[in-house]
Amino acid sequence: MDRFEYRDGRLWCEGVSVERIARDAGTPVYVYSSQTFLDHFRKIRAAFEPLQPLICFSIKSCSNLAILSLLKEAGSGFDVVSGGELYRALRVGADPSKIVFAGVAKTDREIVEAIDAGIGWFNVESEAEMENLIILAGRKRRVIHAALRINPDVDPKTHRFTTTGKRETKFGVDLERARAFFERFGRNEWVQLGGVHLHLGSPVNTIQPYLDAIGKALRLIDELRNAGFLVEMFDLGGGFGADYEGFQAPTALDYARSIVPLLSDRSLRIVLEPGRSISANAGILVTQVLYTKQSGEKQFVLVDAGMNDLIRPALYEAHHFVWPVVTSREPPAGRNNQPFEGAVLADVVGPVCESGDFLALDHYLPPVQRGDLAAIFACGAYGFSMSSQYNSRPRAAEILVEKDAFRVIRQRESYNDLISAEI
Ligand code: LLP
Repeated sequence: MDRFEYRDGRLWCEGVSVERIARDAGTPVYVYSSQTFLDHFRKIRAAFEPLQPLICFSIKSCSNLAILSLLKEAGSGFDVVSGGELYRALRVGADPSKIVFAGVAKTDREIVEAIDAGIGWFNVESEAEMENLIILAGRKRRVIHAALRINPDVDPKTHRFTTTGKRETKFGVDLERARAFFERFGRNEWVQLGGVHLHLGSPVNTIQPYLDAIGKALRLIDELRNAGFLVEMFDLGGGFGADYEGFQAPTALDYARSIVPLLSDRSLRIVLEPGRSISANAGILVTQVLYTKQSGEKQFVLVDAGMNDLIRPALYEAHHFVWPVVTSREPPAGRNNQPFEGAVLADVVGPVCESGDFLALDHYLPPVQRGDLAAIFACGAYGFSMSSQYNSRPRAAEILVEKDAFRVIRQRESYNDLISAEI
C-alpha cells in the first residue's frame, strides 16, 4: 500500500520519523514517500507490460516538480490538461512525445504552446475544438497527432462530480458521432487523427466499467479501420483506485489481468493516464491539534489544516483516515474507521469559517490533546494540487522523503506570498 508505518508507536515515512519532519517544517505539511510513488508506477508498468503501454502520469493529481522529476526519471510520460501543467512537464525535461493533452476547453494559447513543444497527442473533445486545432496547426504548418476522446456512456460508479464517461457529462464525443467525426476530420493534412481516448471517471474501484468501455471503443476502432482510417493509438485514461480505507482498490495487477487480454494482438499503441493510483497513497497531510471541544453530543478535534489544504472531504464527502502520529495504539491494518475500546468519536475539523471545513466526520480516534500531531492518510492525490489560500491561509509546505533523508520540495507560503501578485 505505502511506506508509511508505525514503529514503536511512532509514524515513519520510509526511514524518517514524521514527528521530526513536523518539528522541522512545521504544520500543516504534506509528506511524500518517493519510494511509494516509484512502487506504484512500477507496479502499473509491470502489470501492463505485455502491452508495453506509454504511462502518462496525470499531473493534476500531484504536480510538484520534484515528484514529476522522480517519475520522469522512472520513465513516465505525462497527462496534462492546461498550459500550466505542460509548463511543469517541460520544466522537468519531459520528453514532449510522451505528453498527452486532454481538456474540453483548451485555449488557443495553450494549443499553440503544445504544438510548439511537439507533444505526442492532443486528446480532442469536440468538433469545434478539432476545427480550431486544424486552423492553428495549419497556420504553423506543423503536422500534429490527435486522438478523439469518446464518451462511451459507461457508469464508472463513482462520485457524480468525478464521473466523466457518462453521456450527460461535458466530456468527449458520443459514440454515434465518433464515426462521423472521423469521416469529417480523419484525412486532414495538419492534424492526423489516429487515436481514440477515453477517461471514465475517478476513482473507478471496479473493473467492469473499463471492460464495457474498452469493448465499445474496440468495436468503434474496428469499424473505423474497416472504413480505411488509420487508428494506431488507444488511450484508456486514468481512474484506477487507491486505498483510502481498507484495501478497497483493485491492484494494478487486478486491472491488468482483465484489461490486457482485450488489447493484446490489436496493434494499438496503448496509453494509460494514472494519477491517483500512483500518488494518493504516496502522501499524507500532517496537522497539529489546536484544541478539542464538545458541542452537544459531538466531540470536535480542531486542527491547523483546513479545507483550503485538503478539499476532498468537503467537495466529495471523501473519506480520509486520520490517526495520531505518536500513539500507544496502532491503527487497524487497513486503516479503516472502526470503533475500539477507549476510542473517541469525533469530527476532525479545520480553522476555516465554513461548516463544510471538515477533514473527517465521525472518526474513531485514540484520545488526542492540544499539541498532538495527526496524520491524514492517502492525501498524495488531489491534496496539495487542489489546495488554495482561502481565508488567506498560506499554503502548506511539501516534503519529499527519500530513504533516510527528507527535503523541502515546496516552501510553506508566507503572508507576503498571499499578496505578492496584488497591485
Ligand atoms: N485522465 C484524464 C483525462 C482525467 O480527467 C483524469 C482525472 C485522469 C486522467 C487521472 O485520473 P486518476 O488516475 O487520478 O483517477 N479531484 C478529484 C479527482 C478528479 C479527477 C479528474 N480527472 C478527487 O480528488 O477525487
